[in-house]
Parts: sequence; C-alpha cells; structure tokens
Amino acid sequence: MRRTALASAAILAAATMLTACGDDGSDASSGSSGGDVEVMTWWTEGGEKAGLDALIQLFDSQYPDQHLVSTPIAGGGGGNAKQEIMQRLTQHDPPSSFQGHAGGELQDYINTGRLQDISSLYDEEGWNHVFPPDLIDMLTYQGAIYSVPANIHRANLVWANPQVLKDAGLPLTAPASIDDWVDDLRQLQQGGMKAPLAIATDWTQVHLLETVLISDLGPDGYTGLWDGSTDWGSPEITAALEDYATLMTFTNDNRVSLDWPESSGMVADGESAYTVMGDWVPASFDRMGLKPLKDYVWWPVPGTAGVFDFLADSFTLPANAPDQEGAEDWLRVVGSAEGQKEFNLAKGSIPARTDADPQDYGIYQQSAMQDFASDAIVPSLEHGAATSIAWLNQITSAVGKFSADPDVGAFQDDLVAAAQENQQSAAHES
Ligand code: GAL
Repeated sequence: MRRTALASAAILAAATMLTACGDDGSDASSGSSGGDVEVMTWWTEGGEKAGLDALIQLFDSQYPDQHLVSTPIAGGGGGNAKQEIMQRLTQHDPPSSFQGHAGGELQDYINTGRLQDISSLYDEEGWNHVFPPDLIDMLTYQGAIYSVPANIHRANLVWANPQVLKDAGLPLTAPASIDDWVDDLRQLQQGGMKAPLAIATDWTQVHLLETVLISDLGPDGYTGLWDGSTDWGSPEITAALEDYATLMTFTNDNRVSLDWPESSGMVADGESAYTVMGDWVPASFDRMGLKPLKDYVWWPVPGTAGVFDFLADSFTLPANAPDQEGAEDWLRVVGSAEGQKEFNLAKGSIPARTDADPQDYGIYQQSAMQDFASDAIVPSLEHGAATSIAWLNQITSAVGKFSADPDVGAFQDDLVAAAQENQQSAAHES
C-alpha cells in the first residue's frame, strides 16, 4: 500500500499535464549566464529561515564567484509566494530558482512550459541513485525531471503541551480516535481553557481538514479523493466534515489573523493544549529553548497512526532562468549530501536523500525517518503533493467560508463542486 499512494499521486499529476511547451508557444529553454542568482521561497523566520540561510552559506562558500539574492515572501504554506511566483513567471521575469512542492503543484508550472527539464543534472550528480524512486516519479513528467527535493516533511501531527495535559489530568499519549480526542478537548474547555486546539489562518485549517479526512477515510479512501475513486458527496465525507466542524469549535476565534508560528506559540506558552501542524514545528520550538518530550510532545493525529502524510520542498529551474549556470549550481547544493544535512538540521525535516546517517539528527527526526520507512504514505493536500494549485485554491476558499459560516452541507457542496470542476478539467487535458 505505502508506495501505491505515492505513485498514484504521481500518476494523477502526469495524467493532467500537457506538453512542456510555453503557453506563448515558446520552448522551456535555458536562460542567460552571469548576473544574480535569485532564489524565491516563503521561508522568512525561525527554523525555516535558518534552513535557507544554511543552504545559502554553503552556496556562497562553494561558489564564491556567484552572487545569490534571496527573495523570501512571507506567509506560511507559501500562499503569497506561489501567487507572486506565478505572476513573475507569467510576466517572463523568472527568478533563477524557486521553492515548490513535489507532486500535483508542479503540474501548474510544467503545463505552461515554465520549467526546464533537469534530467541531465540528475545524471551528472548521480541523484537517480540517492533519491527514492517514488519521489523522483512525483517530479517527473514524460520522462523529464523537473525539480530537486530538499527534504521530506510529515503533516499529520499533533503538537501538545505536556504540562497543560498533566494539569488537566490527561495522559501524555495519543487519544485512540477523534471521538476520544474530542472528549479531552471538551474536558479542557470545561476546565476554563478557551481554545484548547490552536489554529491559524485558512491554510492551517486546510491542513487540519486533510488530517481529519485521512483519519476518517483511511489512507486508501483519502488518496482516492484525488484520483476520483472516492466520492466527495458520500456520507463518509459528511461524517468527516462533521468531525472537522466539531474540532473547529475548540479553536481560537482570532484564527484568521494568525499564521502557524503564532498558533504553535499558543501551545508553547500554555494558552492552548494542542495544535495540528507539520514537523517544521520542532525546529521552531527548539529555537525557543523548548526540549522535546519535556516541554512538548507529539503524536500522529488520532486515527492516523501508521500513515505518513507526506510533502517535499523542491527547487526548480525556470525556463529562461537568469544566470543558468548559477541556478544549476544552486540546485547542485540543494541536492548534495552536505546541503541536505545542513538544511535539514536547521529546518527539522528529514533529508530526501537515502544516504543520510540518522545519527546526525535529533530525536524527532530519527523517529520521522523510521516512520517514513515503514508507514503508508499519502500525499499532502495543503502542501502541494495531492493536487494542482487551482484545486487547492478552491478547497481553501471553501474552508475559509466554513470558518466564517460553519454549515457542513454547504461546505460539502463546495468541495463536491471543486472536485468535479478539477477532475473534469484534468480529464479534458489528458
Ligand atoms: C510548507 C513547506 C514547509 C514549511 C511550511 C510552513 O508548505 O513545505 O517547508 O515551510 O509550509 O511555512
């Protein structure tokens, strides 16, 4: 099972991609030489910025004649950055490289001929032998490879404050199911905690939603949402949306004005007991001086043990990239053993390369490496593995609407309409 889910996301992406030819008819060709190497990301603070800085430092030391310019666009999950990247690409003003996600998200760029095939770089650097084949499949269309993965992150995790749980007489272990978790949340709320489950703006709600869908539908049912084999209109989805609606009643009212550092900070300072977020959280907690297992604990979202909700940050080479040589050098650093180690030590994710030594990493990362090796893998919705950006944007609008006006029926109708529209356009394009 585990690899089927990953492969099916790759097949989905492949089935909906058009030829890699520009929407103005141009070839996805190589760019100029010389000038600045501009790298666009959404990593602006904490462990994310530290990871990016580590890569830049390595690049500067290995390529002292190149001049790297970092263009970070604030906003967790990359909502703002993705818009700006698409705008720059559309205006034929690409950066030398930009952050994307492995999987469906890349199809938006490949379909319109915005990316160069970097298979030759894979050959030169021997990457076909060091990245997992299923991951390479998610970066490949019609035999051409389109980006270099920097890491692997897991999305389906609860981060909890052990002192808060102890004070409430709750165990420091995962509730067995969402229903059991709701009992604990209710107990905390009745004990006076206003928002036991901390959450932030729309994208973090999509993130919570995907983990509830995995919990209620299981890995196959969840993966089927993206290839049409699971019916978005079914009673199982209604039940999952009701669970989601119940969880949202335990969240903070000011969510729309927060991003993930603030909502995870609410757990760190004991204002909330839990948050659901990807494993970029420990890097940020560690930088706040918190100690794993003592000051914070974690477990898979109840009902998702044995499932790894996967995403990979991946760097691209745009068509007509300024300073083609410098851009390729940047990708060489991202894919190198040293680059992956420096980056992931600071970022908290695990290396995408299979030749990393677990002993180099901390307690959380070692457990994530073990889980990635043994769990069922499913593609993250919010973080680009499962769908195109267009479909994700429609789901995000539905989630934002639900946050303001929690009507499960209308929510499901919106999700069904989004699925129909996107699956139809995918079928039309293939
Ligand atoms: C994800 C990205 C992670 C992390 C997170 C929060 O989309 O893949 O690396 O940056 O957003 O900003």
